[in-house]
Amino acid sequence: MAGQFNLIVVLSLCLSLCLFPYATSAILNRKYYAKTCPNVETIVRNAVKTKFQQTFVTVPATIRLFFHDCFVQGCDASVIIASSGNNTAEKDNPDNLSLAGDGFDTVIKAKAAVDAVASCKNKVSCADILAMATRDVIALSGGPSYAVELGRLDGLISTAASVNGKLPQPTFNLDQLNSLFAANGLSQTDMIALSAAHTVGFSHCSKFSNRIYNFSGQNPVDPTLNKAYATQLQSDCPKDVDPRIAINMDPNTPQIFDNMFFKNLQQGKGLFTSDEVLFTDARSKPTVNRWARNATDFQRVFVNAITRLGRVGVKTGNNGNIRRDCAAFN
Ligand code: HEM
Ligand SMILES: *[C@@H]1O[C@H](CO)[C@@H](O)[C@H](O)[C@H]1NC(C)=O
Ligand SMILES: *[C@@H]1O[C@H](CO)[C@@H](O)[C@H](O)[C@H]1NC(C)=O
Ligand SMILES: *[C@@H]1O[C@H](CO)[C@@H](O)[C@H](O)[C@H]1NC(C)=O
Repeated sequence: MAGQFNLIVVLSLCLSLCLFPYATSAILNRKYYAKTCPNVETIVRNAVKTKFQQTFVTVPATIRLFFHDCFVQGCDASVIIASSGNNTAEKDNPDNLSLAGDGFDTVIKAKAAVDAVASCKNKVSCADILAMATRDVIALSGGPSYAVELGRLDGLISTAASVNGKLPQPTFNLDQLNSLFAANGLSQTDMIALSAAHTVGFSHCSKFSNRIYNFSGQNPVDPTLNKAYATQLQSDCPKDVDPRIAINMDPNTPQIFDNMFFKNLQQGKGLFTSDEVLFTDARSKPTVNRWARNATDFQRVFVNAITRLGRVGVKTGNNGNIRRDCAAFN
């Protein structure tokens, strides 16, 4: 009897831990600064709001910065470090994929606002400020509001070389996307939900020009692209386009964090191969169709996915500290 009972206990423990390994974080929690800086979320939100009122680019730039931070050495603000005399930092890897300066500026401004409160000075990590700012810009642009987990330390290393191979490429197929996300503890469902961040923001023409000019021997234009959309893209991005030109990734509601990304995919209006493949591959298509139909369901799963993203490679103890200046090591 006792043996049977133990077996049941072990089985149910395994069921909860094995099936939901990310249901709660062992390290992070929502009240991390309750004693040291109780108003931190309000302070950050106000700073982010001010920046958002100055430019909408704050939204996509901050979200993408958080994603890249987490995928390269974990969510530890290593992406914000500026290169110095003898170190070329992450952000100067050519694969920084032209992160917009407004994301960095958002974190620097929010950090200044936090540090302006005497009791909070040097108590809140840059990594947590980036996680809070990301939550705030998503809500400001019409996306879901969610409670953000806190307690990340800032990383002690940032090298350009560490970026190589860590970020997904716009040419990726479903297997390549899945394996890169799986390496970060994220499922295909998480990956599809997080990809919907492409509902806001911009892309440079070079990131998809292969799809509109030299796709394959038989097809100069990717046949999975909507014909009218392909023509539009060719006119926005002529062959000799200025490399600084960037276009909206969501042609319909580029400034709203909604489920339009999935509706676009259904119409062949996914900008990157890595976007459209989510609809053309039979393994991910049902999920795209579900979230194109049901915005509430998309939001629920997105919150879960970005929470798990925020747990990737978190630094604790001697592996991190609270940076005084987010762009430089202490
Ligand atoms: C699934 C694989 C992904 C690929 C291949 C990918 C690729 C790209 C590329 C090529 C750009 C355009 C960059 C440029 O030309 O400047 C871009 C922009 C962007 N990506 Fe992704 N991305 C992926 C996933 C994600 C995820 C998971 C997020 C966040 C949760 C994200 C958020 C963004 C945002 C917000 C922008 C717009 C940035 C801006 O306007 O400044 N992406 N992505
Ligand atoms: C070079 O790196 C060392 C430690 O890695 C550091 O102590 C020194 O200040 C750096 N020099 C410059 C110019 O950044
Ligand atoms: C990204 O890297 C390029 C060089 O490859 C650099 O010119 C650019 O300033 C970097 N972007 C940011 C935001 O640091
Ligand atoms: C949409 O998803 C939500 C949350 O998952 C669910 O409760 C609701 O029944 C769904 N609505 C429709 C119309 O399917």
